Amino acid sequence: MEGWIVARVLHVIGVVLWIGGVAMVTAVLLPAVRRFKTPEERLVFFEEIERRFAAQSRVTTLIVGASGFYLVHQLDLWWRLARPEFWWMHAMIVIWVIFTLMLFVLEPLFLHRWFIERAQREPEATFGLVARLHWMLLGVSLVTVAGAIAGSHGYLLFAR
Ligand code: HEM
Repeated sequence: MEGWIVARVLHVIGVVLWIGGVAMVTAVLLPAVRRFKTPEERLVFFEEIERRFAAQSRVTTLIVGASGFYLVHQLDLWWRLARPEFWWMHAMIVIWVIFTLMLFVLEPLFLHRWFIERAQREPEATFGLVARLHWMLLGVSLVTVAGAIAGSHGYLLFAR
């Protein structure tokens, strides 16, 4: 099997685990946690699950990034970044950069501490904010997945 096919398989498996996980946290875990009675219960439960999911996300982010850049290099696709009809290529890279920054830089440095402190002070507002951010990231990720699947199989919006 050629290298780019293996990379493509790994890329899509990584995307499924990663964005599927984001969907689960957004649509199932967060709404369930917000119904818990005490703020302490919410924080402990959410932290326990999110910690495990963050570990999985770090691995899948690395797989998606490595296989994605390998594909761009191997299939010689850099030229696409200069063409607006390949907006989904830019979107894939932007989403990857956002998640990489969050998981590897911002969270370990201060985001995690900030979340715990704020969730203890203002639990309703903090979980509301976290839920809105998750919905936003999930929405943008799904639009990107749709654009990437259609685009990489030949259907391009705004094609000249
Ligand atoms: C560093 C970041 C990334 C790079 C460099 C990258 C690169 C690529 C490349 C080169 C392709 C193949 C395009 C083609 O064959 O025409 C691809 C496909 C794809 N990528 Fe990415 N990608 C990245 C991140 C992401 C992310 C974050 C997502 C999800 C939100 C994603 C979802 C997809 C999907 C769904 C496909 C289509 C697979 C198929 O239908 O065969 N990628 N990506």
